[in-house]
Amino acid sequence: MKKVAVAVLASGEGSNYRALQAYEGAPYEIALLGTDDPRAPALSKAREDGLPTALLPPEGFPSREAWEKAMVEVLEESRVEWVVLAGFMRILGPFFLRAFPWRVVNLHPSLLPSFRGREAIARALQRGVSWTGITVHLVDEGVDQGPVVIQRPVPRLPGDDEESLTRRIKEAEHHLYPRALHALLEVPFRVEEGRLLWADERKVRLLCGEPF
Ligand code: GRF
Repeated sequence: MKKVAVAVLASGEGSNYRALQAYEGAPYEIALLGTDDPRAPALSKAREDGLPTALLPPEGFPSREAWEKAMVEVLEESRVEWVVLAGFMRILGPFFLRAFPWRVVNLHPSLLPSFRGREAIARALQRGVSWTGITVHLVDEGVDQGPVVIQRPVPRLPGDDEESLTRRIKEAEHHLYPRALHALLEVPFRVEEGRLLWADERKVRLLCGEPF
């Protein structure tokens, strides 16, 4: 079967990019890694892998929309069908999202709607939660607000600090994100009133595993 061309957009470490790349049996092929940050380790990782990259530092563009137009052009040239955000630090606006309707997916290190925005892990720890987790969601114009695709809980263990909890959250992300993308590409879904509804929940569970 022909694989779906996806782009990964990343501004950080790129550990999720690597997990997406390493996932066996993927119905997708990463066509390109895009970034806004020349110092992003994700960019070096993609270059090491010999993957085409697109570096678009925002300073080079007069407006957010101009940046988005340039990135959409690059993605369309590479025939990208889905956009996978993996630690991408720019908020995407209407121009970009209209080019990929309900085909931009993000990963957030909390159980949304708790702890939206930056420093989610540190803020969860500071509030003393016993459980936090991870959320894969489709991207709409709100920040960390789009329809939930799938979530997994991660406990705070005795003695956890930001580093140890981040490590376990990332482990959960590396497992779940490629599988969630697999489900999005293979299981039909629709979005109604901000909620994602699967045509076949059983198949999603088979692909992603049981929640506990
Ligand atoms: C992940 O924890 C993800 O939840 C958040 O950014 C982080 C990216 O990590 N959106 P990495 O760059 O993939 O290692």
